[in-house]
Amino acid sequence: MARHLITSALPYINGIKHLGNMVGSMLPADVYSRYLRQRGHDVLYICATDEHGTPAELAAKEQGLPVDEFCAQAHDAQKAVYDGFALAFDYFGRSSSPENREITQHFARRLNENGFIEERAIRQVYSPADGRFLPDRYVEGTCPHCGYDKARGDQCENCTRVLDPTDLINPRSAISGSTDLEVRETKHLFLLQSKLQHEVEEWVSRHEDDWPQLASSIARKWLNEGLHDRAITRDLDWGVPVPADTWPELAAEGKVFYVWFDAPIEYIGATKEWAAQDPENRDWKSWWYESADDVRYTEFMAKDNVPFHTVMFPATELGVREPWKMVDYVKAFNWLTYYGGKFSTSQKRGVFTDQALDILPADYWRYFLIANAPESDDSSFTWEHFTATVNKDLADTLGNFVNRVLSFSKKRFGEEVPAGNAAGEAEAKLGGQIAELLAEYETQMEALQFRKAAAALRALWSAGNSYLEEKAPWLEIKTDKDGAALTLRTAMNLIHLYAVVSEPFIPSTAKTMREAFSLGDDTAAWVTADEARALASVPAGTPFTVPPVLFAKLTDEDLETYKERFGGTEG
Ligand code: MF3
Ligand code: ZN
Repeated sequence: MARHLITSALPYINGIKHLGNMVGSMLPADVYSRYLRQRGHDVLYICATDEHGTPAELAAKEQGLPVDEFCAQAHDAQKAVYDGFALAFDYFGRSSSPENREITQHFARRLNENGFIEERAIRQVYSPADGRFLPDRYVEGTCPHCGYDKARGDQCENCTRVLDPTDLINPRSAISGSTDLEVRETKHLFLLQSKLQHEVEEWVSRHEDDWPQLASSIARKWLNEGLHDRAITRDLDWGVPVPADTWPELAAEGKVFYVWFDAPIEYIGATKEWAAQDPENRDWKSWWYESADDVRYTEFMAKDNVPFHTVMFPATELGVREPWKMVDYVKAFNWLTYYGGKFSTSQKRGVFTDQALDILPADYWRYFLIANAPESDDSSFTWEHFTATVNKDLADTLGNFVNRVLSFSKKRFGEEVPAGNAAGEAEAKLGGQIAELLAEYETQMEALQFRKAAAALRALWSAGNSYLEEKAPWLEIKTDKDGAALTLRTAMNLIHLYAVVSEPFIPSTAKTMREAFSLGDDTAAWVTADEARALASVPAGTPFTVPPVLFAKLTDEDLETYKERFGGTEG
């Protein structure tokens, strides 16, 4: 079977992420990884915290912690939430690792040897009061485009335009607030992306037809605007140091690489961290180096990350002139909004991942988010939609089916799957439907169409409900006990099938469903079309237990409580 390398955009270290971040990168990557593992593929799912740059330094300062300590704590806090969401990373690393430092420095040396790095003197904002240069977000001021007075040196949050600190009107230091700022000349390394434009263009044109339109259109837009040479170093304390063997002067000045230079390299770095945990059994290099056709590499990210992954990181990889694995498929997402507005970390608007888990278990969120993933367009989170979806799909269609079937059978036939009649016409019809829906689910999952895969899953659950309504075993039993037994045995086989195919979406519930039957199969290996058609994996006589209610129904009162707690629902 194929080897699948999967990465999701590295969550930035400076705080717990909201549901929009979750659905645009890590969660779909996890669903896809779980599905591929079930199908028997060799999967490596890698992620990490993105720890360098000014936001990390500023967040550490706000908490009064040294930046390394802040990052260590913040990494653990994020990891705990991702464990809570049951994200089954093979490894969740840190971009501040020694592994990443080594590979980042290696990349920089190679780019330099190949003529793609140049030292240039540029003018930077300097603060005598702070005794330092103020890169990126260390400067705040008024946006020259829209007049917003809290624009940051790297970008205006109001009009989203990308800025240079020297563009700001009335600039002030984000550290001390000092307005006594000067512009001083200093040397930095530039990545000569303009020299790589041609190669990147050629590489993109070989791949873009396979990518979703969202990814290829963004890549094209950037290429059409032309690749600009880009400063890849900063005057910061925290980051991958510029290697002294190659740039002694800059290293002595304490320059580090720009966060967007080392962050994507951490996909490789984290794989090396993974291997370092068990060096005898794990070979990081075979995934990344000279692995071209043997490994299929899929990246997950929100649309703002697409330029970095389709153009800039590929330019870096190409310029290194070594056979590093490049991305095969870029799965990009639009925005999840909160009542049509932005989720905002700074304004605390929307639902954060730790709060979500406070309210309800992960499976409720996982299912809702994937079933409504912002794939073809932005999609909106509302509490009304969330509670209605949970009640209809999870509580009624799936949960109620499972409970009803198992408790009724236990009551009438005891704690083993009843035998009854041999399968008849209704079962043959059901089997055909199930096999067809399963094929649809597989097709959509393989095409990374998550909403459509969720719709197919929902249709599988519904087919069971229709069958049960049609056969009505609670009536059937009055006149035809063996017929009712057949119906229940068939429904129990559906439950087992649901346990397998629901695993990527709702792993913890799937496990509960699987474990209801004493089959001694603790893996959720996939079902073949024939197995789906036969609905006979759970034979008569198999002992079972009735699990507790799988999904609680959410009440109007719950809805009001959520709306009140999270607010911002006015649009
Ligand atoms: N931390 C970045 C963000 O939140 C994403 C980094 S992805 C990587 O937008 F490729 F650079 F790692
Ligand atoms: Zn602006």
